[in-house]
Formats: sequence, structure tokens, C-alpha cells
Amino acid sequence: MLILIQLLIAVGITAFLSLMLVVAEMLFANYGECEIDINKGEKKLKVKGGSSLLSSLAENNIFIPSACGGRGSCGFCKLKVVDGGGPLLPTEKPFLSPAEIKDNVRLSCQVKVKNDLRIQVPEELFAIKQFKARVKKIENYTYDIKGLTFELLEPDSIHFKAGQYMQLSTVKYGKVKQSVSRAYSISSNPNNPKDLQLIIRRVPDGICTTWVHDYLKENDEVKLTGPFGDFYIRDTDNDIVFIAGGSGKAPIKSMIENLYDAGCERKMTYFFGARAVKDLYLTDYLKSYEDKLKEFTYVPILSSPEKDDNWQGRTGFIMPHFGEFIKHPAQTEAYLCGSPGMINAVSKGLTDMGVPEDQIYYDSF
Ligand code: FES
Repeated sequence: MLILIQLLIAVGITAFLSLMLVVAEMLFANYGECEIDINKGEKKLKVKGGSSLLSSLAENNIFIPSACGGRGSCGFCKLKVVDGGGPLLPTEKPFLSPAEIKDNVRLSCQVKVKNDLRIQVPEELFAIKQFKARVKKIENYTYDIKGLTFELLEPDSIHFKAGQYMQLSTVKYGKVKQSVSRAYSISSNPNNPKDLQLIIRRVPDGICTTWVHDYLKENDEVKLTGPFGDFYIRDTDNDIVFIAGGSGKAPIKSMIENLYDAGCERKMTYFFGARAVKDLYLTDYLKSYEDKLKEFTYVPILSSPEKDDNWQGRTGFIMPHFGEFIKHPAQTEAYLCGSPGMINAVSKGLTDMGVPEDQIYYDSF
């Protein structure tokens, strides 16, 4: 018993001292001005020490991908920190492979700028911009999914590939005193570069989705950053299978509109999984592409239709329906958008039927 009490006291003292160190660092640490050397002297930034590398770069208009807004939970913000990054933190390890760790890859949101740094930034990231935009239209697609159209103000147009995503920044609202950024796939056609559309599903207690669903109004001004991501259609002759439910429809809609504009004649099937009729949206719109495209089929499948739904369509899980549509698995490419669990399960179903693993592309959220 005595040992247990001594142990608890020791743990308590350690926790207290750690807390004091964090507070002291927040209050008193002064790292002064630090230099960030990018790509062997290609750019040199002078920044005030103390912030994360991710936000220090963003303040200098260099935007690194981030889906979690710097909370250390998405693993998107990887950068090579050649020198000055300090020791690897436990929060970074789950997102880095042994090869990346050996190669000095770090999560830029977890690296604090405390001294001069030497880093490497891929050239394509310098093209990412921050846009000022006006909310042009908000549509209720379902009870928990909204479609938002933004008019880009400054810069007033964007160049992106269908399938890429943007980061939307919130403003202070209600009890939320800090701006956060979250990633959302673009649902509009790249051939309309002046307006940008996003599809956003409400996440219970989600800071950004609560703001979008309960506070954001038409004509409000917002900040968007991007485009990011390498989820886009590969230029081959393979058949295409799209699989995405909920707000995962956003990048697929953009891809289909863009493929239509390009006169694509590839065979395409879009499996859209939902629970019940109340979760379906843009159904007629996507069905209309069956007449426009040479070989396109839109296949909504409900897992739990409700009694009053009078649903005459397909039911159950998505995978048992694959065989009817995927006739040449080895010559098929799949584009999946959804949760990691859905992507793992569907990828396995596709590879089991013969779709090559390296022809399965996904956007996981
Ligand atoms: S921004 Fe998400 S882990 Fe760094």
C-alpha cells in the first residue's frame, strides 16, 4: 500500500512538473528570429520562433497539405527537415515509415521552430494558393449534407485536377475562439475555374462542419487554400469503377463532369452506397450522365432502406453487386472515396476479383 502511495505521488509530481514546463515554455520561451532555409537556399524565410513549422510556412504563403488543421492526426503535412528539427516526437511516429524516419521526414505541424532550420519543400507545393471567396449558394442535399458554391474573389480563378481537395478555414463562432482548417474535396468541374463547390456532411461536434451547417450564410466571405492531393483520373483506356457514399461523392462528381467534357468513352460504373432513401442526393443529376456518356451506369445501393421508402432498387452491401458490372477486372481502375475501413474492405473485394492493386486509387477521410 505504501509503495502504491509513493508511486502515485511520484507520478503526480512528474505530471505537475511536465505541466509547469509546458506553461513556462508558453509564457517565457523566446526563440527570437529564426531562419528557414528551403531547398538548399532557393528561399530563405525569417520567422519569429515558437510556432509550428506548418504555420510558419503558411504565414509566408507556403501551404503544406493538412486535413486536420495541425492537430497531428492526419499525417498529411510531411516534409523533409534536413537540419534543426529536434528529436522526433511520439506523436509523429505512427505516421512515418522507417524509411521516412531515416530520411528525416517529419510532420511539419509537430515540429516547432526554435532555431534555424533547413528543409525541403516539393516544387509543386509552391503553386498552392490561399483564396478569398464569397459563399454564393448553400443547398441542403440531405438532412446532414450541404452543397456549397463559392465565388472566388482573390485570386478569382483556380486551376485544379478533378479529385483534388481544398482546405476551408473557419472563423470564430459561438464558443469557438480559434480558426481551424479542414480538408474537403472539390465537387465542381475544373472547367469552371471561377466557382468552386464543396459537399460537406455534418460531423457531430465537428468544429468546421458545425460552423458550415449552423453559422455560415450566403454572401459570407471565407478563406480556402489549395488545391491539394493526388487523387485524380489516370489517363488510360481501362474501365473505371467509382465507389463512394455520403460526401465522398464530391470528387467523383467532379471527375464525371470533367470526363464528360473531355469526351471520354471509357466504360464507367459508379456504386453509391447509402443507408436509406433519405441519404440519397443528386441521384437524378448523376443518372442523367447515363444518357450523356457513352457507357456510364449509376448504381445506388441501400443497406437499410426504411419501410416507407418503397425502395425498388438494389440493397445490401456494395461488393456482391460488383460481379454484374466489372467484367474485365484486370483492365479496370477503381477510384474510392470514404473512410479507411470502407477503403480497406472494398480494396480487398476488388483485388480478390482480380483488379490489380496498383489500379486502385483512393481518397481516405
Ligand atoms: S496537419 Fe495533420 S498531421 Fe500535421
